[in-house]
Amino acid sequence: MTLATESFPLAFEQRPTASAVEEAKREEILANPGFGKHFTDHMVAIDWTIDDGWHDARVQPYGPLQLDPASSVLHYGQEIFEGLKAYRHADGSVWTFRPDKNAERFQRSARRLALPELSVEDFLESLRQITAADIDWVPSGDDTSLYLRPFMIANESFLGVRAAQKVGYYVIASPAGAYFSGGVKPVSIWLSTQYTRAGRGGTGAAKCGGNYAASLLPQQEAAENGCAQVLFLDAETGAHIEELGGMNIFFVHKDKRIVTPELTGSILEGVTRDSIIQLAEDRGYTVDQRPVTVEDWRRGMESGEITEVFACGTAAVITPIGELKTSEFSIGSADAEPGALTMSLRRELTDIQYGRVDDRHGWLVRLDG
Ligand code: COI
Repeated sequence: MTLATESFPLAFEQRPTASAVEEAKREEILANPGFGKHFTDHMVAIDWTIDDGWHDARVQPYGPLQLDPASSVLHYGQEIFEGLKAYRHADGSVWTFRPDKNAERFQRSARRLALPELSVEDFLESLRQITAADIDWVPSGDDTSLYLRPFMIANESFLGVRAAQKVGYYVIASPAGAYFSGGVKPVSIWLSTQYTRAGRGGTGAAKCGGNYAASLLPQQEAAENGCAQVLFLDAETGAHIEELGGMNIFFVHKDKRIVTPELTGSILEGVTRDSIIQLAEDRGYTVDQRPVTVEDWRRGMESGEITEVFACGTAAVITPIGELKTSEFSIGSADAEPGALTMSLRRELTDIQYGRVDDRHGWLVRLDG
């Protein structure tokens, strides 16, 4: 089967909602958005079939999808997604951060899940379209943004196990504040010794729903043990640290060195991860991407070699890690102070995203106007 890709930009039809959320209600939501709880008035939808490729691009009212109960996504989980944010700058303009990276990762995820690729141009245009339709939903409070969630599902009604020949691409948007309810303070994380997230040759490097589904039971175990996130080890040796349920991990060493697990094919290539590596190198840090074990972490903390540990992702940006807990031992302390470099990198990254400092790497892309 060949998976058609578009070679020309799609034109979007506008189908505005007749029942937008009232202004007063919207402002109330924007004042305290939380994360992932509220959705805007519109959504983007584009259809794909094996015969016609991508077609019928539109901005339509936000609302339930009509899915045949035999739709393949409901049975075999053929689904991928992305997450990125629209930031309102002080002058009112709206920008997003390195969307080309998300577009390219979305294409890689599509290839791995045997879904059709959407062109980078159409992906970026879909972000502009949803933002233009719901521009009043981009909040302006500190550390708030409009979280954009592009996703693609197999919606062919067919129970045979093969790649679907009918697919839908959508973008929904959700005003967002802090991802963790406690704000930016050190979190405890739980080491999953019984479960892994991804194996060699699996879907670990793809952003697909199945990876997150597999993390939910260990994530529950983490919560039962008072932890905000779960940490996974590699499936092959059970020794190497991979990533958290939805975030990459970094270790700050003394003498201006930073270590993060290398991308092995089973770790998600985070856009925030990549940006932090660049910002740290700009500051003269050496960033090693290499295998890291729990034992390295324990010894590094004991000897003072490791001075800070943090997690990163689009949703929570950079989150200090205070403690690693397991059923047998713990490393660090839940009461640890956030690390100075952790907080300073967080500040620099958000200053770039919110237009408070020069965007020296040209990472921002304007979404409005
Ligand atoms: C991110 O922060 O990029 C994530 O993937 C978390 C998201 C699934 C809520």
